[in-house]
Amino acid sequence: MTRPSSPTFTRPLRRRGEVPLHRQLYERVRDAILRGVLKPGARLPSARAMALEMRVARGTVDLALQQLASEGYLVTRGAAGTFVSDSVSTARLPEPHRAPLPRKSALDTLSRTPLRPFQIGVPAVDAFPLELWSRLLARRSRAARVADLVASPPQGEPVLREAIAAYVTVSRGVACRADQVIITAGFQGALGLVARALLRPGDTTWIEDPGYPFARNGLALAGMHLAPIPVDDEGIDVAFGVEHAPRGRLAVVTPGHQMPLGVPLSLARRLALIAWARRAGAFILEDDYDGEFHYDAHPLPALQSLDGGDRVIYTGTFSKVMFPALRLGFLVAPEPARETLDRAAALLQPASGPTIQRALADFLQEGHFARHIRRMRLLYAERRDALLEALEAQASPDLQIIPTPGGLHVLARLREGLDDSIVAERARAAGLEPVPLSFSCATERSRRLHRGLLLAFPNLVPSRARDVVARLRRVLDGA
Ligand SMILES: Cc1ncc(COP(=O)(O)O)c(C=O)c1O
Repeated sequence: MTRPSSPTFTRPLRRRGEVPLHRQLYERVRDAILRGVLKPGARLPSARAMALEMRVARGTVDLALQQLASEGYLVTRGAAGTFVSDSVSTARLPEPHRAPLPRKSALDTLSRTPLRPFQIGVPAVDAFPLELWSRLLARRSRAARVADLVASPPQGEPVLREAIAAYVTVSRGVACRADQVIITAGFQGALGLVARALLRPGDTTWIEDPGYPFARNGLALAGMHLAPIPVDDEGIDVAFGVEHAPRGRLAVVTPGHQMPLGVPLSLARRLALIAWARRAGAFILEDDYDGEFHYDAHPLPALQSLDGGDRVIYTGTFSKVMFPALRLGFLVAPEPARETLDRAAALLQPASGPTIQRALADFLQEGHFARHIRRMRLLYAERRDALLEALEAQASPDLQIIPTPGGLHVLARLREGLDDSIVAERARAAGLEPVPLSFSCATERSRRLHRGLLLAFPNLVPSRARDVVARLRRVLDGA
């Protein structure tokens, strides 16, 4: 059931005008129907509720509704209520007015189109145990108490913070207590919280170049001065950062599996990064976005485990193991930033309501999470191998496949002279959704060096791999 949008009913009526109140109300509801704000089948609030809301007599509302019903805009269905008539065909209605949308970035477009081969950022949603998850949610919903309707702890539900602390300590070597864990709206929520709590607009922030575009754009939106630091086969070039941006306040890094190049940050660079942060009094935001997914070798423990809990803010997300629309992630606050982040969380309330958080805690504590990761690791290894095999079988002289021990995409470098955004655009026209590597680049220098395609495989079933790669090959052959 759709509720009418409140502006229709909460704007005051003109009480001293020439138009009677019932007529004003009639016009308001009729216009809302004609503009598509109230859609066919939408239920109206009860006449009593409308009268109270608009501060008019009940009889005034009845008159307006009767008029609308007699003209065919509304139908009454006894006790069920009053509805917008299905016969008011939206096809004949004028286009509702829409505010102009901000210019879309290509990534916005990607995230809204239905799933297509190679689409990045979406785990194997076909293999997610949706029924089990619904049961856990329903159980927690039923167990909710009146007190749960009033408030939820701004740092997150204690039971989830405990489950996360236990999980990251064991699986990623992160040294932490539950009171350092703050639940956030995914990695983006953690980034926003850190930017607002620990940085000031204009502060210098190191970003990896190439790096995760949403981190770059999020920091730019928060008014940060971005210092793009090149990435090579050992990860972020710390010496470059120390030379060019020694007074950075924050470094945002993906040390486990660099996004998008896939390299792990070497031990020497890890130590150098922490040493710089200590000297500069800066923080490091460790984005451990896919630490669960390694297929050939065990990944290095988290950077945070080397630091003694001082400079590294560890972040994890449930977007990859669960699903991105869950919008849940977390950060582990190092002791020197804990109070500030706690206070900021209390003001900004980053996390979602208690029911979902508790259900997620159950998912972790009852062993479903670990089981799901094990299953997904096997599934992804299979899907990745099928993609690699197909790429090898139909090898293109234009593509160089870069092997990676983990992650959820294969990196394919493009030969000199091919523009990756043009290739990606043509691939999109062929129904494929590879992301050009240059999207991840913050500088011209980096764009010259890094041309390629990110080919995500979580949703690529092995039986389709050859067909999908053949389509890509045709796009490349025509380029
Ligand atoms: C590098 C990186 N960090 C974080 C995320 C997850 O972000 P969020 O938790 O905001 O969904 C992704 C998802 O694609 C990613 O690629």
